Amino acid sequence: KSMLSWQRTSYHFQPDHNWMNDPNGPLYYKEWYHFFYQYNPDSAVWGNISWGHAVSKDLIHWFYLPFAMVPDHWYDISGVWTGSATFLPDGQIVMIYTGDTVDIVQFWFPHPGIGIKDFRDPTTAWLSPDGDKWRFAIGSKVNKTGISLVYETVDFKSYDMLDGYLHEVPGTGMWECVDFYPVSTKEVNGLDTSVNGPGIKHVLKASLDDDKNDYYALGTYDQFENKWVPDDPKLDVGIGLRYDYGRYYASKTFYDQNKQRRILWGWVKETDSEYDDILKGWASVQSIPRTVVFDRKTGSNLLQWPVIEVEELRSKSVEFDNVKLGPGSIAPLKVGSPSQLDIVASFEIDKDAFEGTVGANASYSCPTSGGAANRGKLGPFGIIVLADETLSEGTPIYFYVAKGANGKAETHFCADESRSSEAPDVSKVVYGSKVPVIDGEKYSVRSLVDHSIVESFAQGGRRVITSRIYPTNAINGAARVFLFNNATGVSVTASVKIWNMGSADIRQFPFNQS
Ligand code: FRU
Repeated sequence: KSMLSWQRTSYHFQPDHNWMNDPNGPLYYKEWYHFFYQYNPDSAVWGNISWGHAVSKDLIHWFYLPFAMVPDHWYDISGVWTGSATFLPDGQIVMIYTGDTVDIVQFWFPHPGIGIKDFRDPTTAWLSPDGDKWRFAIGSKVNKTGISLVYETVDFKSYDMLDGYLHEVPGTGMWECVDFYPVSTKEVNGLDTSVNGPGIKHVLKASLDDDKNDYYALGTYDQFENKWVPDDPKLDVGIGLRYDYGRYYASKTFYDQNKQRRILWGWVKETDSEYDDILKGWASVQSIPRTVVFDRKTGSNLLQWPVIEVEELRSKSVEFDNVKLGPGSIAPLKVGSPSQLDIVASFEIDKDAFEGTVGANASYSCPTSGGAANRGKLGPFGIIVLADETLSEGTPIYFYVAKGANGKAETHFCADESRSSEAPDVSKVVYGSKVPVIDGEKYSVRSLVDHSIVESFAQGGRRVITSRIYPTNAINGAARVFLFNNATGVSVTASVKIWNMGSADIRQFPFNQS
């Protein structure tokens, strides 16, 4: 291992070495979770794409297995690209994936009007209305319009393309890694992919090749017309909500029949230079798997939350109750293992001052408003993670409340990476979006900190931001956590609980001992 090995994560899934990208065909089978991933067996950059394979009992500790697929047939000789798993009633599992041939991609589904390369990443299949055929979706584009096509099959050997598109959104470009699944509007459990009917909405997700983000929308699937219609056209796929406002792409869900939940995997791409990736000998991690459910409080978004199993890694905890933070204050928090943490924090703004404030930066926007250093009347306030003692490095995860002249408040949830690292060649951005905060709710955030990745969930998972950051001083035991309130007009009261997180056991499967 290289001397930069401390930059590896300790409880996120990551191959021992070389390049990884999209999650593929996740499933639960015979008491094991299986995870496949786009993998280059030869180097820390993209290429020679094969399917890596790992198994786990709990989605946290993993055994690496031999490759599931390598480019060894004429139909995938240039790469075994992304695909999804489907369970058949007889117990068989089908993997449909994109094969990259010598000169074209996925030639076996020619379609007039669609570029021969603009066609990839089949979803998990679901049953047609009369239950006798399987359907799956594939992402594509026509000119600049992102589209999803649906195919029907009985035997996964011959396929018919259904007329029209499942959905299309002008201007969104190529849709990669489409995902399509039902969520219950009544129950908290997840749903198997073929379920439809009353009390169900369908999520359509596309990974936008043009801006490298995963966008989803809630809507209704008419399986007879084979059309999906968004609940709110202003929040359509690719122009509305994202799963994650940080570094997160090519995600895929699966239904976990073991615990009746739907689980989301996502690829966290590097922010370091390719030169450094090669020097380290590895590139990319997977996010902590997240359960996804419909948000019954807002009715307009999903809630994402780290799978419960990650809490197995929690050990010693510390609590800080009702810490009063005056305008412009910062408070260090003493924690045990500062670069491996699970932090749960909530904040309340002093009520009278809040109500008396109007006209507070109504045009605020996380990516363009100057980060955590830019002070407003009602924000920013939050936590700073992976900071060093002197705050030469640190990543603030924060809320910023804006109020128009009409007195209506809007809350922004942001992650400011601009001072996350003194290294010159890593990308450092301010991420974020507006987040719905319902009357009576506190501002709340949970952050999973793991050396070079921070995954932050606001308001129970209504908005999520993943940061891939490379501190140079705030590493291992030298890292610090702070609370801060950089608002000029209000005091904030914070309550925080922080757990030390253990490391996941991720290693080769011990074949010789089995
Ligand atoms: C998304 C993607 C997919 C493709 C795969 C190739 O990151 O470009 O569209 O199948 O990666 O590795």
